[in-house]
Amino acid sequence: MSSTLVQASYLVAALLFVFSLAGLSRHESARAGNTYGVIGMAIALVATIAYAVQSSSWTGFGLIVAAMVVGGAIGVHRALRVEMTGMPQLIAMLHSFVGLAAVLVGYNSFLRPGPLSAAMENIHAVEVFLGVFIGAVTLTGSIVAFLKLSARISSKPLMLPGRHLLNLLVLVLSAGLLVWFVASGSAVPLLLMTALALLFGWHLVASIGGGDMPVVVSMLNSYSGWAAAAAGFMLGNDLLIVVGALVGSSGAFLSYVMCRAMNRSFISVIAGGFGSGATAATDDEDYGEHRETNAEDVADLLREASSVVITPGYGMAVAQAQYPVADLTHRLRARGIEVRFGIHPVAGRLPGHMNVLLAEAKVPYDIVLEMDEINADFPQTDVVLVIGANDTVNPAAEEDPTSPIAGMPVLEVWNAKDVIVFKRSMAPGYAGVQNPLFFRDNSQMLFGDAKDRVDDIIKAL
Ligand code: TAP
Repeated sequence: MSSTLVQASYLVAALLFVFSLAGLSRHESARAGNTYGVIGMAIALVATIAYAVQSSSWTGFGLIVAAMVVGGAIGVHRALRVEMTGMPQLIAMLHSFVGLAAVLVGYNSFLRPGPLSAAMENIHAVEVFLGVFIGAVTLTGSIVAFLKLSARISSKPLMLPGRHLLNLLVLVLSAGLLVWFVASGSAVPLLLMTALALLFGWHLVASIGGGDMPVVVSMLNSYSGWAAAAAGFMLGNDLLIVVGALVGSSGAFLSYVMCRAMNRSFISVIAGGFGSGATAATDDEDYGEHRETNAEDVADLLREASSVVITPGYGMAVAQAQYPVADLTHRLRARGIEVRFGIHPVAGRLPGHMNVLLAEAKVPYDIVLEMDEINADFPQTDVVLVIGANDTVNPAAEEDPTSPIAGMPVLEVWNAKDVIVFKRSMAPGYAGVQNPLFFRDNSQMLFGDAKDRVDDIIKAL
């Protein structure tokens, strides 16, 4: 394959990736967005492999195919086994691979730089240094995120004394090592920086509290994009640079959106250590009594209602209740009842988690509204069904300035006439804080697995 044809293929693939991102930004076009991405990646792979074969050898081709078969088999195996609730940690793990790849590409490029003009030598040294730095930060940061998200280590923020000074010191030292590396071309500053960057990545994410993990997931997504772009510079691969920049900037934008959704300062979170932490509730405040209800009574309430809003959360994903919820929605709408969904930006454990589940169950997109679109409508709503959501409907975020989630915008479900909360117990949600919503006069608890309870309501209807 000629280099012109490869560049043309890369251009087409890059355009398809841009279309893919544009498609993924809306429910209606997400499927098409995925298709564009898959076609773009297929073109990129074929062009890259064909070019590699031509410019190296069939042995190279054999090695690439062998690596793809092994990697693909592991990927398919993991993808088939992973539960939807295990996706965040899987994604964090995958980000760490991108970081590791950038570190390895950097060292390879340092050891075997290929023909370089004198003018390019310094630029190449900077590329290698930055590539290894970003890759190493992404590698350990993602491993810590994986360990926190899978509850293998505590999600509490690590609050080292003078942690911001420590971070600053690492950056200043790394800048000094960069100068040394460019001037000497020695491996020593590169190795020293790698060790520092590995510690830096670990410290950055370890300092972020569990409550801010949504931001960490999207932030590491962004870092992995920049690591890929850095690898693209070292390999002289334009497509990798473009794709890395697309992932890096869209991840940064998503982190910003997440920060806004949680009322956190973007800079504070990426600097690490400002997380509020998902601490266990040591809350002995007396909230009063809660009221319990049953499926038959909820069915009666729904029959009488003219407008219903469903606010799903992580528990809907755990219970896999999206199919009965979609069925219930269909039945209520067939009775002329207006049913809409209110989606909090950090409901669940992944950006867009609830949207994916509802789309999977074929809930019409036009009744799935974002928090900002639905919040003003709760006072005119007859019944709200809170299905496995907790932190995202917690009034303490607005009313209690001492709450760990204070300031986080939430779905104001308590303004509706009746609120039915589906969960298995009175246990707190992800942030570990009790929810005063459960004790309000207009709230009733429907205990049990969300899927079973929604099925019961459908039967009773
Ligand atoms: P959570 O606050 O996590 O609460 C989920 C509730 O679902 C729990 O109180 C649990 O109560 C209930 N539940 C679990 N399994 C259930 C089942 N089978 N049937 C019925 N209920 C069940 O949920 P949320 O409102 O979606 O809030 C998300 C939280 O996760 C936020 O704090 C957010 O910051 C955090 N977070 C989000 C992300 C992203 S990117 N979305 C990433 C990391 C963390 P029981 O145990 O009593 O049933």
